[in-house]
Amino acid sequence: MSTPQRASATEVERHKTAIPRTSVSAPIFLLQSGGVITDKTTVLDYGCGKGNDLEALKQAGINAYGWDPHFAPNTDKLVESDVVNLGFVLNVIEDRSEREEALRKAFGYARQCLAVSVMLIGKGDLRNSRPYKDGFITSRRTFQKYYSQGELREFVASTLDVEPIAAGPGIFFVFKDELAEQRFLFRRQIGFRSSTSRTSPIVRTEHSPTSKAPTGTVKSIVKDLAGLIRELGRYPDEGELPTSLRKRIAKSKHGLSYLSNLSIQEVDSGELEQVAARRMGDLSLFFALNAFGQRPPYCELPPEMQRDVRAFFGSHQRAIAEGQALLFSIGDSERLLKDAQEALNAGIGRLDDAKFQFHIRDLPRLSPALRGYVAIGERLVGDLSEATLLRIHIDSKKLSTLYCPDFETSPLPRITQRVKVEFQTFDVTVVDHTQGGRVKLLFLRSKYLTPDHPHLDEQKKFDDRILEIETLDLSGEGPDLQSFSKAITNAAVSLPRLS
Ligand SMILES: C[S@@+](CC[C@H](N)C(=O)[O-])C[C@H]1O[C@@H](n2cnc3c(N)ncnc32)[C@H](O)[C@@H]1O
Repeated sequence: MSTPQRASATEVERHKTAIPRTSVSAPIFLLQSGGVITDKTTVLDYGCGKGNDLEALKQAGINAYGWDPHFAPNTDKLVESDVVNLGFVLNVIEDRSEREEALRKAFGYARQCLAVSVMLIGKGDLRNSRPYKDGFITSRRTFQKYYSQGELREFVASTLDVEPIAAGPGIFFVFKDELAEQRFLFRRQIGFRSSTSRTSPIVRTEHSPTSKAPTGTVKSIVKDLAGLIRELGRYPDEGELPTSLRKRIAKSKHGLSYLSNLSIQEVDSGELEQVAARRMGDLSLFFALNAFGQRPPYCELPPEMQRDVRAFFGSHQRAIAEGQALLFSIGDSERLLKDAQEALNAGIGRLDDAKFQFHIRDLPRLSPALRGYVAIGERLVGDLSEATLLRIHIDSKKLSTLYCPDFETSPLPRITQRVKVEFQTFDVTVVDHTQGGRVKLLFLRSKYLTPDHPHLDEQKKFDDRILEIETLDLSGEGPDLQSFSKAITNAAVSLPRLS
């Protein structure tokens, strides 16, 4: 074995970690889809690297500035902003006190929210790297520290003395502004429903300021307003209009209510009813979960939520009552079973023995009662964003989260960890399946793939074949690796080679 080489901090070339991006980074995407960055917020990208996120934000008409000690050292750009992004910076700094300093400085520039993101353990290629301090020096003489989700949370909380909110794997948001935090939490509870796509560099919704639709004409205004009505399930308020649309309306010399009346005629009434029902469900869920914490008075709700409450419930009291009714339905096994059956009919997950198991990405598509069940579990167990699958034990009132790191690539993903929360006792059990030599597998992966997944057809063929093997019982947790291998070998079924 060779002795680990020593590296000194002066050798580290931090700027070499900056990569050109073809789509916006995950934190910027989450800030936009979570409604934290809008066309009305200002953004500072602190440690912006080559500036691709910055460019995409600017293209979308957002007031964004960037600073980087190597690529954009002009300190004029270091201005207090609504949102500050500290994206993948802490993990390239080899000195802990410098990390703390960067985090504090970035937080200091934020008026509403700071987004902190880092590389997580398991995300990096450690070949050609050597250990250095609490991370690694790569062959390109860059430093990388790989965090665990918990370690990052602890680092942010202890440095800034504020409890951060997990926004995704390796990504935390720290809010200074309570309204902005409530807005974000609400959108999260409703499952980040937004037309944001990560493949295009930045959001371009129908009513986005960069929309290619003809501008200035009533027709194009009506089209954009109709899009907004479809999203909200109600008439928009002046303050909810994107700046460019507001300007076009002002130029058109027509009033918003006249234009809104024209626009609603463009929206199919059935579609509008569906959106309104879905939004009412989302809001009921928000009020249901508020019952666990300090319920904010009406006047402290964000203005757009006050408008939702008036439009969908008539009063705050009625909204709270709907929330309570939803809370009861979360404990109603028959109702949950019915909702799970409906989700199954829509092609989501597996329902076996009153246990409903599904991929976490499908959570926003479930009924408010099922989402409420998961949200309560999340309060007990903490952040679920890294889980692959969730299992709702409808009868025994438990929630299990399953972690399968090779889910995207393997026909038989390995379950490495399972966390189980018991709603009756509030007990949380963590089972590490990588210990004790007993391999746990996830069977019937096709039930959890999206219809456009490149492996779906091959996986389905394989799953159908193993379902035909009479000696194989795939119910519950399924067989152990040995029995499974034996059964498929006897039945001459081989694992598919996924392209
Ligand atoms: C991995 S890149 C990330 C760039 C960009 N945020 C992104 O996500 O594409 C890390 C960047 O952090 C910058 N950096 C290094 N030390 C820093 C510090 N103390 N404060 C701010 N940025 C720093 C580097 O110059 C480099 O451009």
